[in-house]
Amino acid sequence: MKDLFFRRHRRLRSSANMRALVRETYLHKEDLIYPIFIIDGENVKSEIGSMPGIYQLSLDNLMEEMTEVASLGIKSVILFGVPFEHDKDEHGSGAFHHNGLVQEATRLIKKHFPEILVIADTCLCEYTSHGHCGVVEGGTILNDASLDLLAKTAISQAEAGADIIAPSNMMDGFVAAIRAGLDEAGYEDIPIMSYAVKYASAFYGPFRDAANGAPQFGDRKTYQMDPANRLEAFREAESDVEEGADFLIVKPALSYLDIMRDVKNNFNLPVVAYNVSGEYSMIKAAANNGWIDEKAIVMETLLSMKRAGADLIITYASKDVARWLDEEGKEV
Ligand code: PBG
Repeated sequence: MKDLFFRRHRRLRSSANMRALVRETYLHKEDLIYPIFIIDGENVKSEIGSMPGIYQLSLDNLMEEMTEVASLGIKSVILFGVPFEHDKDEHGSGAFHHNGLVQEATRLIKKHFPEILVIADTCLCEYTSHGHCGVVEGGTILNDASLDLLAKTAISQAEAGADIIAPSNMMDGFVAAIRAGLDEAGYEDIPIMSYAVKYASAFYGPFRDAANGAPQFGDRKTYQMDPANRLEAFREAESDVEEGADFLIVKPALSYLDIMRDVKNNFNLPVVAYNVSGEYSMIKAAANNGWIDEKAIVMETLLSMKRAGADLIITYASKDVARWLDEEGKEV
């Protein structure tokens, strides 16, 4: 025993205060972005079957939700619209309607909670009859023809008061088109949070229940990325940076923490992890069966995203996390 040399790592784990002294990563309320689904109609508060605790809310129920969000200290929300089926059309015109769901919700939030940051998801899939994120012709998703519609959507969201535009449709050039559109319309100060690195993932399944946005034919593999690829993430992030993105989203989060670290190490913009619907649902399902400790698992997974380089996290668990942070005396 006497001649053994080894490092005593346990010295720095000896007490809670000692561990706090050397903790490298923290989760703060400021990191959280809470997604909200705004559905058409009146007096709707409909829990999404595959996402316990998450609701589709009509505009008249939005203020109640926002009061809770604000009182929990959550400072930003991201909005998705869920229109009536009969209002969907080929071009997703509901996405850029002056009185569209996201536009109206934005106006309402900014009126009553001006300090809360409203992030508008900019995509067409919730509004198109075919459920794709761009214009479809003869079974093909057209790239360039979709760009105009996206820019129009972003401008109408900015007009309604959105603080940040978050395009998620994965057409090539969408950041350039939206940046140019916003600048021309006088919104040069509105940042773009680009879904720069978005994989064609099965983890979006429950979201498509929530937003009624499943593609009616085919899949999204011609525009979203192949989960097998890493270098492609560099190319996607690089072009979005060149085109003027202000934030880079990596989505999904948990199966892509390696990519998150790559993006953090190679680009100097804030990195946003999207802790997507399927990731939320898996934890909820196991927790509701009593198989795992929900709080501990959620905190550990979100912490892993921050450790992997995320500066911010879009998560359906935001309200729970804010409560848990309060319980623990602010940060974990
Ligand atoms: C719209 C969009 C999707 C998600 C966010 N924006 C669905 C998709 O691309 O298929 C998924 C979010 C989640 O699963 O939580 N394009």
